[in-house]
Amino acid sequence: MEEKQHIGQLFDRIAGTYDGLNHGLSLNIDKRWRRKTVQCMPEAEHVLDVAIGTADLTIEMIRKGKAQRVTGLDLSDKMMEIGKGKVERLKVKGERMADRVAFMHGNAQDMPFEDASFDGVTCAYGCRNFQNLDEGLREMCRVLKPGGQVTILEFSYPKNCLIRFFYDLYFTHILPFIGRIVSRDKTAYTYLNKSVKHFCWGEEFVQHMQEAGFKEGTFRPLTFGITTIYIAKKW
Ligand SMILES: C[S@@+](CC[C@H](N)C(=O)[O-])C[C@H]1O[C@@H](n2cnc3c(N)ncnc32)[C@H](O)[C@@H]1O
Repeated sequence: MEEKQHIGQLFDRIAGTYDGLNHGLSLNIDKRWRRKTVQCMPEAEHVLDVAIGTADLTIEMIRKGKAQRVTGLDLSDKMMEIGKGKVERLKVKGERMADRVAFMHGNAQDMPFEDASFDGVTCAYGCRNFQNLDEGLREMCRVLKPGGQVTILEFSYPKNCLIRFFYDLYFTHILPFIGRIVSRDKTAYTYLNKSVKHFCWGEEFVQHMQEAGFKEGTFRPLTFGITTIYIAKKW
């Protein structure tokens, strides 16, 4: 099976339990991480949310006035269905939030958009799933308008040994165990654990952004470096 099909199907299978597990297992800290990410964004007219999933980042950026319109791209239709349902129920300044959000099926490594189509690009917890990170980052740079900002949120590996111990314990044992029981999927959360541990972070991730064409790459670790916000511009 093609890798992109495999990832789309994996997230289709866990879509129904994804939000509950995310918020429950992180004790809702994931909501704070998305809020902080949105705080780092400049106001923009039209933002592309790559790997939009169930739309939590999109909802936050529209609520905070950081995006007037959002287009979300994802390989999993089921994740986007959950996101659409959430957006349908919400209002912003008395108007339907759904009127401001478009969901599109597509691959981050081969986006169905013209060059320089968006004023901003975001991606929360999507990059580590890309088959080829560099292709995904190059595509983000291509579709961003000059002067625009890319804002990425991704898991990282904490520096502190004690925190690392609990991090490893959590991602290697606790998350796959609870994920397996709640989502009733034997493999998805084991895959997610592997994808976190073998992914680049910090300076190395910024270097990938710069190689993809972005400038002024910076990063901001959150909660002992468990997760990190990456920011860069296109000139
Ligand atoms: C961990 S979820 C993150 C969802 C959401 N952004 C959030 O913050 O909760 C990862 C999402 O990335 C999507 N994804 C993975 N690889 C992708 C790719 N190559 N192109 C588009 N979407 C992808 C998956 O389908 C899934 O919905």
